[in-house]
Amino acid sequence: MINSEMTVREVAVRVPESTRLFETLKIDYCCGGNRPLTEACASAGVQVDNVMSQLSALSKSGASDSATVEFQKLSLSELISHIIKTHHVFTKSEMGRIQALAGKVIGVHGANHPELLTVGELFQQLCADLNPHMFKEEQILFPYIIAMEQAETQNQPVPFAPFGTVKNPVRMMMMEHDTAGDILRKLRAVTSDYRVPADVCISYQTLYQALEGLEKDLHQHIHLENNVLFPKAVELESR
Ligand SMILES: [Fe+2]
Ligand SMILES: [Fe+2]
Repeated sequence: MINSEMTVREVAVRVPESTRLFETLKIDYCCGGNRPLTEACASAGVQVDNVMSQLSALSKSGASDSATVEFQKLSLSELISHIIKTHHVFTKSEMGRIQALAGKVIGVHGANHPELLTVGELFQQLCADLNPHMFKEEQILFPYIIAMEQAETQNQPVPFAPFGTVKNPVRMMMMEHDTAGDILRKLRAVTSDYRVPADVCISYQTLYQALEGLEKDLHQHIHLENNVLFPKAVELESR
């Protein structure tokens, strides 16, 4: 059962399909997910009762039996493998594609649409945050979580952590998620919610669609890390 006093994060974990609704309503469920649903609805300017009835319809329809429910049941290594194969691979390839697209669109339309220069700068900041971030997850944090899980299965002690406790890299990754979340919000603001001006070419539209698609994927990606993987890793370490 869900209620309006639950945090957005709790709802997103319990009713995974809610993340689609949250995307549509622009309710932050990944970095800003730690506030009660009532408060999040108020700041998104939507009626909490309305959202609650849509959420209960989703949970009753069984739509929530889709992918994310299963994420709760996955082992941590399986979850990590999913995050890398689905979200890290997509993010890296989209960053490359958007980079090329942005260069082209700014060259053609930058003079008439100066907001594109800000889009270009914000996108560079996003890449500068995400590239080393995913590298650290793949090279340091994720292998450590996998090793912890293996040790637990084999009744071995928790492996040596060069960073003290797993809470330290987790805290750092969450701070970097917040930075990415801030940049995504700024991109949305400067593009007026990715509204494409009337006088532009198809590349402009493709650029905005690609940025919006990347935003959506990052929300899901960060949600899985912040709200499913990291709390489980911290709990595993403390057992
Ligand atoms: Fe990640
Ligand atoms: Fe991450």
